[in-house]
Amino acid sequence: MKYTYQENTFTIDRYPTTDNKSLQAWSAADEHILNYLEEEKISCEKAVIYNDRFGFLSTILADKDPTAIIDFKSQEKAFAFNFEDNGLEQNLKTNSSIDELKGEFDLALIKIPKSLDLFRLQLAQAQASLSENGQVICGFMTKYFSKQYLTIAAEYFEDCSQSKAWKKSRILILKGKKAVEKENLITEIQFSGNKVFKQHYGVFSAKYIDHATQFFIDHMDVRLDHNKILDLGSGNGVLAYAALEEKPQTEIHLIDDSLLAIESSKMNVEGENVHFHYNDSLVDLEDNSFDLVISNPPFHFEHETNIEVALELFKEVKRVLKKGGSFQMVTSNHLNSKTHLYKLFHKVDIVSQDLKFVVYNCH
Ligand SMILES: C[S@@+](CC[C@H](N)C(=O)[O-])C[C@H]1O[C@@H](n2cnc3c(N)ncnc32)[C@H](O)[C@@H]1O
Repeated sequence: MKYTYQENTFTIDRYPTTDNKSLQAWSAADEHILNYLEEEKISCEKAVIYNDRFGFLSTILADKDPTAIIDFKSQEKAFAFNFEDNGLEQNLKTNSSIDELKGEFDLALIKIPKSLDLFRLQLAQAQASLSENGQVICGFMTKYFSKQYLTIAAEYFEDCSQSKAWKKSRILILKGKKAVEKENLITEIQFSGNKVFKQHYGVFSAKYIDHATQFFIDHMDVRLDHNKILDLGSGNGVLAYAALEEKPQTEIHLIDDSLLAIESSKMNVEGENVHFHYNDSLVDLEDNSFDLVISNPPFHFEHETNIEVALELFKEVKRVLKKGGSFQMVTSNHLNSKTHLYKLFHKVDIVSQDLKFVVYNCH
């Protein structure tokens, strides 16, 4: 998709690419941020950019040498493709939301995330590195906004104002840093027994073990001959942990597209037999090598529902499974995944089902 800003035309696409026209590489909230910067003649030198999922803002503002916060492997790939397509050098400065931000910034651009916790984590990070007269400019679609974002913003800034709506989006402008103590932004979740799971703010299911995950754990079938297991979309590592409780010596691999998820799982699952992969695909895993793949697969990305990512992962699952291996997964009933699984696997059994969730075992 093409976008013209200050007489320069850019091509920005999603990664992974999609034919679904409702899935866009940027929203009116991103355009609103650019318009606001232009109207208010805000210098974008010393800027840090958050939640720029496919690199729309970072590509367009690349000549200002910003720092981009990259929290996903797929985001890193999207940036690389879009920089290449626009003839830009691959020398963008990057950081994550959990690694300390080095240097001082005059401007932070935040596309407001769905997770209030992640907003807090990012706001705390940006605020700590902002110069005294620096400002934070947040873009959001009005339908996804709630007062809770304002409450969080007001904990970090004296002055929080909003723009008028434009194409159903708004800008939130934060100025005047408040003095705040450094916080430890890690959540703790109680699991069965005395196990407490730790996770960074913004990682899947922040307050409790997800209901689908719990339903899956109650029906997961880890057997003695499952010597090599993959937890696909591992989040905080709860499924891998449950599998290891059944078979402590098994070689287990956890893979997740989210850096915050992988780093969280490292706090929860340990052992020489445990391997972590920060990746959005299974390319680095060998063909016919796993006895069992377990997953509560991703279908929701921020405010989007997108089945395409999971379907690509399922094809890869088939490739990495040994002959006779088993793919066990949970999903919401309404997603009707069985039709898709049948296209890939000979046998798709329903292990258990209730009003909300279904657990499949595929061979
Ligand atoms: C529904 S959550 C499940 C998390 C965890 N297994 C649980 O049950 O609590 C799905 C996970 O898939 C991850 N994910 C999304 N896209 C992915 C991809 N392409 N490759 C690997 N993981 C992905 C998300 O970051 C998220 O942690």
